[in-house]
Amino acid sequence: MRLDVVTIFPEYLEPLNVSLVGKARAAGLLDVRIHDLRAWTRDRHHTVDDTPYGGGPGMVMKPEPWGEALDAVLASGEGEPVVVVPTPSGRPFTQRLAGELSERPWLVFTPARYEGIDRRVMDEFAARLDVREVSIGDYVLAGGEAPVLVMVEAIARLLPGVLGNADSHRDDSFAPGPMADLLEGPVYTKPPQWRGRDVPEVLISGHHGRIARWRRDQALLRTSLHRPDLIARCDPAAFDRHDRATLAELGWRPGPDGRFGRAPDGMEE
Ligand SMILES: C[S@@+](CC[C@H](N)C(=O)[O-])C[C@H]1O[C@@H](n2cnc3c(N)ncnc32)[C@H](O)[C@@H]1O
Repeated sequence: MRLDVVTIFPEYLEPLNVSLVGKARAAGLLDVRIHDLRAWTRDRHHTVDDTPYGGGPGMVMKPEPWGEALDAVLASGEGEPVVVVPTPSGRPFTQRLAGELSERPWLVFTPARYEGIDRRVMDEFAARLDVREVSIGDYVLAGGEAPVLVMVEAIARLLPGVLGNADSHRDDSFAPGPMADLLEGPVYTKPPQWRGRDVPEVLISGHHGRIARWRRDQALLRTSLHRPDLIARCDPAAFDRHDRATLAELGWRPGPDGRFGRAPDGMEE
């Protein structure tokens, strides 16, 4: 997979040389190219921003350097990339989207600074390319480089050959399959006792069926506690009889459409 990142802070992307992504690069699984946006400025000060039309605080990134930078990146490769635009006003970045992007051969990221990029740039490239405006969460960062690091790591670990054990992401939170849309429960390793705390007995029982059941119960418990919205959204067909009993214990009831809901705290009859 080829990844291009256009930024005014190339050094911010240094972590892409480390750990899993760094190893994937070294193994030739990822071809990462970082470009300095200022290389496409034409004035002495390498200006990339200007005041916003309509007034207001902050500065806006100028369209000309971005347009020329993206033209150059596009011309340097075969085929059409997906352009990923980090922005708090984008669609949420999810595991599903990471999976979808991991199947594309070429991604171009456009992390911005200031108040973002002049709108015409994305309108221009969206007219001929697949442009995705993506948010990594409901908060505002100073720039898009950290979101690029987040997204690249999530995407890269899904590429074949990147994780030592290809099954490692099968049971992850949000992974497609039987645990889809549930959070992963707690994990343990040796020693079996630490500071007076035991590993749950079931995990050392060697009984695969009981272990799988326990893990699923823990996933339901944790999801109910931390992300009840995920349970409410789940396709009820994904829940077996035991799941339903566990959910009932946690205060969840199927509604008229079969989906599970829970009375707000203190409203249980
Ligand atoms: C200060 S922010 C601009 C915020 C913009 N005025 C708004 O409210 O939508 C500067 C840049 O940081 C990046 N950024 C900030 N928060 C982000 C988030 N939650 N997800 C993705 N990118 C983000 C984007 O590249 C954005 O253009």
